[in-house]
Amino acid sequence: MTHWKPLLLVALGLSGLALAAELPQSLRGATPVSDAAPAPAMADYPAKGTSLPRSLVHQPPLIPHKASYPITGQRNGCTGCHDPKRAAKMKATPIHISHYRSDSTLKGEYYFCNQCHVPQQNLSEIKAAQ
Ligand code: HEC
Ligand code: HEC
Repeated sequence: MTHWKPLLLVALGLSGLALAAELPQSLRGATPVSDAAPAPAMADYPAKGTSLPRSLVHQPPLIPHKASYPITGQRNGCTGCHDPKRAAKMKATPIHISHYRSDSTLKGEYYFCNQCHVPQQNLSEIKAAQ
């Protein structure tokens, strides 16, 4: 009378396995949780890169150099070179006029440059995987 119950359990278990195979895989890949996964490759930033051409109108240009300049409440590491008053001397493109108020102060929503500008880098690993 009860012999169908184990069968049902096996059937349910198998369908669970099939579902598990379709689940998205984590970035760790097949590395078990108990092992340390190998570190991802370091970002390969151009030392003194040339800006990549923009692919969209009004696209925030990519950063052709390292982007680890500190941006804190006290100071913005990007304006040191890109402030329109200093840009020519630093051979950098002046910050876009849209980022400024009419009194030439930076608008608050443009303070965190990395929110929109991201560094360009060689993604040879991704290219190789395609
Ligand atoms: C030591 C000076 C220096 C600092 C600091 C600096 N940059 Fe630059 N940046 C340059 C130079 C030089 C270039 C190359 C010339 C150019 O395209 O403006 C450049 C290029 C860029 C460009 C490409 C501009 C374009 O028109 O394609 C962006 C975007 C940029 N920087 C953003 C940033 C951001 C964001 C920060 C802070 C995280 C930063 N920069 C800090 C010197 C600097
Ligand atoms: C809210 C998003 C955003 C933030 C934050 C931002 N930018 Fe931009 N930036 C843009 C966009 C969009 C453009 C392109 C404007 C266009 O072409 O109309 C741009 C353009 C630029 C350019 C190129 C100007 C030119 O004439 O080609 C520089 C340099 C730049 N930004 C630097 C900075 C710096 C430095 C900061 C931080 C102080 C910053 N941006 C913060 C969105 C942003």
